[in-house]
Amino acid sequence: MPAPQIHPSILSADFANLERDLQAIATADAAHVDVMDLHFVPNLTLGLPVVQRLAEVSPVPLDVHLMIEDADRWAPTYAEAGAASVTFHAEATQAPVRLARELRSGGTRACVALRPASPVEPFLDLLGEVDMVLVMTVEPGFGGQSFIEGTLPKIRRLRAAVDAAGTGTRIQVDGGVSRTTIARIAEAGADVFVAGSAVYGADDVAAEIAELRRLAAG
Ligand code: DX5
Ligand code: ZN
Repeated sequence: MPAPQIHPSILSADFANLERDLQAIATADAAHVDVMDLHFVPNLTLGLPVVQRLAEVSPVPLDVHLMIEDADRWAPTYAEAGAASVTFHAEATQAPVRLARELRSGGTRACVALRPASPVEPFLDLLGEVDMVLVMTVEPGFGGQSFIEGTLPKIRRLRAAVDAAGTGTRIQVDGGVSRTTIARIAEAGADVFVAGSAVYGADDVAAEIAELRRLAAG
C-alpha cells in the first residue's frame, strides 16, 4: 500500500483567515475543501470563486469534495477553478464514468464518494475509471461528528477489490478521523485520511499532521 496521505479539512479552519490556515497545513499532502449546497446536505459553505482564490494561495494541492446536487454539471467547473482532485458523490451523479473521464481528460484527479449507507459494490468493476474512492465515515454535512464504526467492512471490501484489480486506486476516508480512530481505519485499508476538527482543533497543527501520519503508517 502506498504511504498514507493526510488531507486536513478546512471546514474546521477559521473562515475569516483561510489563507493563514492553509499556510498552517503546508506539511500536509493536500487541503480538503468541502463544498456544500444546502440541498445535497443541510449546510452551505463556499463555492467556485472562493475555491479559485484558495487554489491560487494554497501551499498544497486542493482536494475538493463536492457535496452538491447535479455534479455532472458542476464538477468540471471546479477542475477549471484549479482543484487538483475533484470528488463527486455517487448519489448526486447520473453518469459517474462519463464525469470521471471528463475530469481526467483535463488532467484533474477524479474521485467518487459514497455516503455511509451507499454500497460500494456497483463501483468495484469500475475502479480503473477513478483515481480515488471516498468512503464517508460520517453523514456528510458537518465536521466534528463521531466515526461510524459500521463503515469499516466497506473499506475492507474496497481494499480487497483495489488490490485484486491492481489499479492503485486510492481509498479516502472522511469523518471522525482522529488519533483514536486512524490506526484501525488504516488497518481496514484506507490510505488517504481527511481530518478537520482533529487537525485544526490541535494546539500544534503541524505536529498533529505528523502524528496522524505516523499512526496511519502503523
Ligand atoms: C463533512 C465533511 C468533512 C469534515 C470532516 O461532511 O465532508 O470533510 O470536515 O470533519 P471531522 O474530521 O471533524 O469529522
Ligand atoms: Zn469532506
